[in-house]
Amino acid sequence: MHGMYPGDLLTVDSFEVGVIGAGYVGLATGACLAHLGYKVTCLDRDEERITSLQEGTVPFYEPALDRLVARGMRSGHLSFGGAQELAWVVRRTDVVFVAVGTPQGDDGSADLANVASVAGQIGHALVSEGSASRERPLVVANKSTVPVGGGDYVSALIEEGVLEGGGATAKADFVVVSNPEFLREGSAVYDTLFPDRIVVGADSRGPLEIMRRLYEPIIGQDFPTEFDPRPKTAVPFVSTDLASAEMIKYAANAFLATKISFINEISALCETTGANVSLVANGIGLDGRIGSRFLNAGIGWGGSCFPKDVSALRAAALAYGYETPLLDATVAVNEGQLRRVIEKLERHLDTLMGKRVALLGLSFKPNTDDLRGAPSLEIARQLNALGATSVGYDPVAGILAGRALQGLEVVFDPYEALEGANAAVVVTEWEEVKGLDPTRAAASMREPKLLVDGRNALDPTSCREAGLLYASFGRE
Ligand code: UDX
Ligand code: UDX
Repeated sequence: MHGMYPGDLLTVDSFEVGVIGAGYVGLATGACLAHLGYKVTCLDRDEERITSLQEGTVPFYEPALDRLVARGMRSGHLSFGGAQELAWVVRRTDVVFVAVGTPQGDDGSADLANVASVAGQIGHALVSEGSASRERPLVVANKSTVPVGGGDYVSALIEEGVLEGGGATAKADFVVVSNPEFLREGSAVYDTLFPDRIVVGADSRGPLEIMRRLYEPIIGQDFPTEFDPRPKTAVPFVSTDLASAEMIKYAANAFLATKISFINEISALCETTGANVSLVANGIGLDGRIGSRFLNAGIGWGGSCFPKDVSALRAAALAYGYETPLLDATVAVNEGQLRRVIEKLERHLDTLMGKRVALLGLSFKPNTDDLRGAPSLEIARQLNALGATSVGYDPVAGILAGRALQGLEVVFDPYEALEGANAAVVVTEWEEVKGLDPTRAAASMREPKLLVDGRNALDPTSCREAGLLYASFGRE
């Protein structure tokens, strides 16, 4: 039984929001909603993380987020608390976002343990001491990536929590909606304030209306911004049923991963035929039906989302008895890209045994210190297994990478990494890496001074003129 949705109740002033999970997604969501004028409380079970946030320090590297968090705290719109404050938050808020991780399980499927635990806690909280009957149902907006059916599962677990807490089912005044997140790490704040679309899925109209109102400032682009001109004037609000919203998230990530694998396959063909993949990508990308983004060939896709989401989609399909030849190929091509890096090194170094290889950039992509699914770590592991020494440089992720992989020497200057190296691999296209001076690089390196440009980020001609043996992906 869900309550009514009085049409005139919701204004920015009256809206209170809770966010469970203060990671990349939860914290960016919370800080941006606070910027829009809502009163937001972000909770996390990690006490250290909460203490750090309460002291005004964002515990990971994400451009612009620290400023927004500081501003939100100063204005009193943003506060933080531990998991024990969940009941308090549930009692006073209209919308609670769930943004806890859904890592890849051992069998490749999405591990829903975090989501399940939070759902149970919400159920308990709904009937905890002091909770009066609600004016309108609590909207539980799921931002965690869950397979189709995940929202219903969350509903069932909240219901179970309510019963366990001694409540009657009728008191369970809540409704679960799916609100998938499309932000990219490294531009989390920008992507949250200026998204290509907002997707919300629910099986009834009321919560969709609540969510549309919550997002109204973003939909209508009616909030203060430092961007001049404002990058967007309006954002589409896509409302669907629950299952479709859940599928949209997986389909979007799987499509993007497939697009990258496609251009990587073409890049291998370019290498054999003498074509240049950068020119090919430009030539096909200008076709509006194809689009020019996500056509950068190189080492391939990694990160905390593409690998686990493609894997979870394959696992879900399998559970329904479906095969996914296209997704299987997307993954196979991606795995092949790492092999191509090692092959390029071996081709020019004869053997890797005893060689020193510099890895330029360690995070899975620029502007983040996230090492989840980072190709750098896998390349370093393979190099070590082949008898080479690897030395890594990254402007922000160095210390974390050194901790993540024993045997990886980490330095804090790109030229120091290149000092005495027989080869270097551009793993992450940080500005600091793209701006490398080839002459200085060549002077630091030892023969054969091989530079494998895993992101096609440097200029081949100036690298060769400086005396580097330059190799990239799908171009001369
Ligand atoms: C999010 C998730 O929504 C994931 O499903 C999606 O695929 C990608 O984005 P992300 O924000 O990257 O994940 O996760 P992470 O940075 O690991 O943060 C999750 C936070 O939730 C952590 O701080 C963790 O301590 C917290 N957490 C986890 C809880 O507070 N309670 C839990 O029960 C589990
Ligand atoms: C991705 C999705 O883009 C985002 O919508 C979703 O919410 C989370 O997953 P993210 O993982 O932060 O975001 O990074 P993204 O910029 O998409 O890059 C993913 C991977 O693809 C990186 O390893 C990147 O290096 C690689 N990539 C991207 C390419 O190899 N070529 C490209 O052209 C683009």
